[in-house]
Parts: sequence; structure tokens; C-alpha cells
Amino acid sequence: MGEAISTSDLLSADGVDLSYGTQLAVSGAYLSVARREVVAITGQNGSGKSSLLYCLAGVLPATRGQIRFDGQLFGRLSDDEISTLRRERFGFVFQYGELLPELTIEENTALPLRLAGQRKRPALAAAGEVLERLGLGELRERRPSQVSGGQSQRVAVARALVHRPAVVFADEPTGSLDSANASAVLKEFLSLARSQGTAVILVTHDPAVAAQADSHYTMSDGLLSAQGAA
Ligand SMILES: Nc1ncnc2c1ncn2[C@@H]1O[C@H](COP(=O)(O)OP(=O)(O)OP(=O)(O)O)[C@@H](O)[C@H]1O
Ligand SMILES: [Mg+2]
Repeated sequence: MGEAISTSDLLSADGVDLSYGTQLAVSGAYLSVARREVVAITGQNGSGKSSLLYCLAGVLPATRGQIRFDGQLFGRLSDDEISTLRRERFGFVFQYGELLPELTIEENTALPLRLAGQRKRPALAAAGEVLERLGLGELRERRPSQVSGGQSQRVAVARALVHRPAVVFADEPTGSLDSANASAVLKEFLSLARSQGTAVILVTHDPAVAAQADSHYTMSDGLLSAQGAA
């Protein structure tokens, strides 16, 4: 993976550092993600994977270097423009799903559409469709406390994809599941993302999971290196 950044990439990092005070969590990262590509990032605890994800997703500004998404440099966008971009073009899956307890499964899933200004009825209808596709149709009316851990992970996946984002950032999306459930959820996640043309950046500790990606990077002590095509 080269230092030369191609403007046709969907998302790219060009020499990105992220520091927390004096702690350098990401150091000189180069990465490029094509449209529809599934990229895995592995590495030990504390190696900087989540920090890199936060930079790529525009959650934290890079201390040095540039991030470019769809031809736009983050550094040239206002905070408002970055939050709109995050809301409309990106999806997120976190380690523990993190559903809102007071909303139903269907309302949780519809959240990205509601935040993007879509009216309630079409948003819930679209949420229902994605839930159906993931085999969760029957859970629509329940609250997060009334579904299993594996089911909430699937709901988190549905929510991350419901607005057909360009990129989903997934930080250990199956972290709380046993390996059989983890691999089932992951398979559904990647297959739905692929079918709607969403690129995925997937942080995982599991080499078997990384092997399902189109490309694989590893992180060690803040340094990112490409492993080539998986
Ligand atoms: N908000 C913060 N302030 C200061 N240091 C931080 C902060 N967040 C993370 N770090 C440090 O930055 C380094 C990278 O952390 P990061 O969370 O990116 O690692 P990670 O690879 O995601 O780890 P894990 O596999 O445990 O999730 C670690 O040394 C961590 O202690
Ligand atoms: Mg992390």
C-alpha cells in the first residue's frame, strides 16, 4: 500500500498521527479504502486501532496528516460539515451494540434515518426491512433489555446499515459474542454491506475474521502496516 494517495479512493489516510497529550497513539498511518471494500485491522490491545478509527471517521481530528473522504479533505471541512458527513455517509457498530434502552428495536434501528431528517413512518418501514433481512423481524416491538446479546449485536448491525452509508466503521462488532455467534453475525454483516455497496472498516482481534476481508492491516504500537490482499 503506497504513500501515493489516489483521489479515486473512497477514504484515505495520508501520514496520520493522533496524539493524546504527549501519548502518540497513531503514528504516520497510510491507508486507503476503495468503494465497497472490506478492510480489516488487527493488533494487540492498546496498539491504536480505535484511535485510528476515530480519526478515519472524523470523530477526533488527526494531530498531523490528512484524511480524505470522497474527494474532501477533513481538514478543510467545518465541524458541522463533518458531523453531517458522519451522520449521513457513515455507520458505526460498537463492541457492545450500545442500543438505546428506552427505544424499541425498530426505533433503535431507524435512528440514523430519523437523525438524517426522515419522517417516522418511512424510517420505521426501512428499519423493519433491514431487521427482516437479518432475521430479526419478530423483535421489532421489543426493548433492548428483552433480546439476547447476539440479537442486540445484529440490531446494531442493522442500525449501522439502515441509511445505506458509504462506510461502516465497526470496532470489535462481535466482541461480546461467543465464536459461533460472532462468526454468524459477521457473515450477515459483511453480506448485507456487500449487497448494498457499503465499504467496511473492521477492527477485530480474530485472524479468522480478518481473513474474510478484502485487505488486512495490522497495528502495533501505533504503527499501521498493510498485510496485502487476504
Ligand atoms: N482518551 C485518551 N487519552 C489518553 N490516552 C488514550 C486515550 N484513548 C486511548 N489512549 C491510549 O492510546 C493508545 C491506543 O489506544 P486505543 O484505544 O486506540 O487502542 P486499541 O488498539 O483500540 O486497544 P483495544 O484493543 O484494547 O481496544 C493506548 O496506549 C491508550 O492507553
Ligand atoms: Mg479499541
